[in-house]
Amino acid sequence: MTTSTDRMRVLTGDTPTGNLHLGHWVGSVRRRVEMQDTHECYFLLANMHAFTTRADEPEEIRADCIECVRDALAMGIDPSRCSIFLQTEVPAISELTYLFSMLLPYNRVMRNPTLKDELKIKGMEDNHSFGFPLYTVGQTADILAFRAHAVPVGEDQVPHIELTREVARRFNKMYCGVPAKAPDEEHESLGGVFPLPVADVGRVGRLSGIDGVQKMSKSLGNAIYIRDTAKQVKKKIGRIYTGHDSRQPDEPGEIDPEKNPLFQYVETFIDDEDLVSDFRDRYSRGANIGDGEVKVAVSDAINHLLGPMQERREQFSSDDDVIDILREGTGRANSIAEETLALAKEAASLKFFNRTISLQGL
Ligand code: TRP
Repeated sequence: MTTSTDRMRVLTGDTPTGNLHLGHWVGSVRRRVEMQDTHECYFLLANMHAFTTRADEPEEIRADCIECVRDALAMGIDPSRCSIFLQTEVPAISELTYLFSMLLPYNRVMRNPTLKDELKIKGMEDNHSFGFPLYTVGQTADILAFRAHAVPVGEDQVPHIELTREVARRFNKMYCGVPAKAPDEEHESLGGVFPLPVADVGRVGRLSGIDGVQKMSKSLGNAIYIRDTAKQVKKKIGRIYTGHDSRQPDEPGEIDPEKNPLFQYVETFIDDEDLVSDFRDRYSRGANIGDGEVKVAVSDAINHLLGPMQERREQFSSDDDVIDILREGTGRANSIAEETLALAKEAASLKFFNRTISLQGL
């Protein structure tokens, strides 16, 4: 395990929703796999956040956690080069959530646009649980418990990172004597416990689903899963709506990936640049190339990507093995989160005596 401290520390997480699909690969996992070599990486499974809407399905949430980790391992997340862990087994996160909730005005929490959107989309504006909005404060603790400097996330998470920066700013000012006007980057060097993390939105990949309209998503039933067989992939790709079903092979076709999702797939999954430009050229000229020919090449490319992932997935077929990986990652996560908690409690005059808790089995 390389935890060389000169590497930048990043933390990111996901609410477990079950099996991962190509949208996850394009949107986040591919990048995380690369970051394992360049950053000190912590990947959190936000299983308590899953309870915000599914408290009545605890067994499903548990199963989703395991599947999600299994698929991430299949895609190349390597437990010897990162720490992958369970939010609910890092008690410092809960303790910090409670403390941080005191630093934020209630109305500030409720103003978060991502939170508002979620409540609206789920029709829960008037009947959400007390804990639902608290998850946003919890997310600040997820990040600050690791004193992470960067948080690789999608655009929708940026308001949560902004809230995190606000918590860090207030804490450092209130309890660590960091001047109110201190520049964000100087909080740590001025004695603040927490660095102000930045959202690393990066190049965002939004992969269309096979309906060709919506973003690929489990709930919309338009996803290609990492565990889909070659045959299933072929069938799903065959169903992709390209916007002009009546086009004849000798009629010019649309190659803008924004307008024709098939070409987004061509560009995303076919590595052979010559083949990609040949397709683009012939398709847009109507040089006797039907959707079928392109779809076969796309299916082959996806199966070529998924093959090794599925082989790796076999190695993690036992739940116990996945749980062992989580146990190790969670152990490393606890070392650092407990250290942060001790610093925070000391700063906030909450340290009355030394407390070490032993996390049995970790
Ligand atoms: N809210 C994030 C999502 O649903 C998941 C998450 C929880 C997270 N804690 C985090 C992301 C900390 C980044 C950092 O996608």
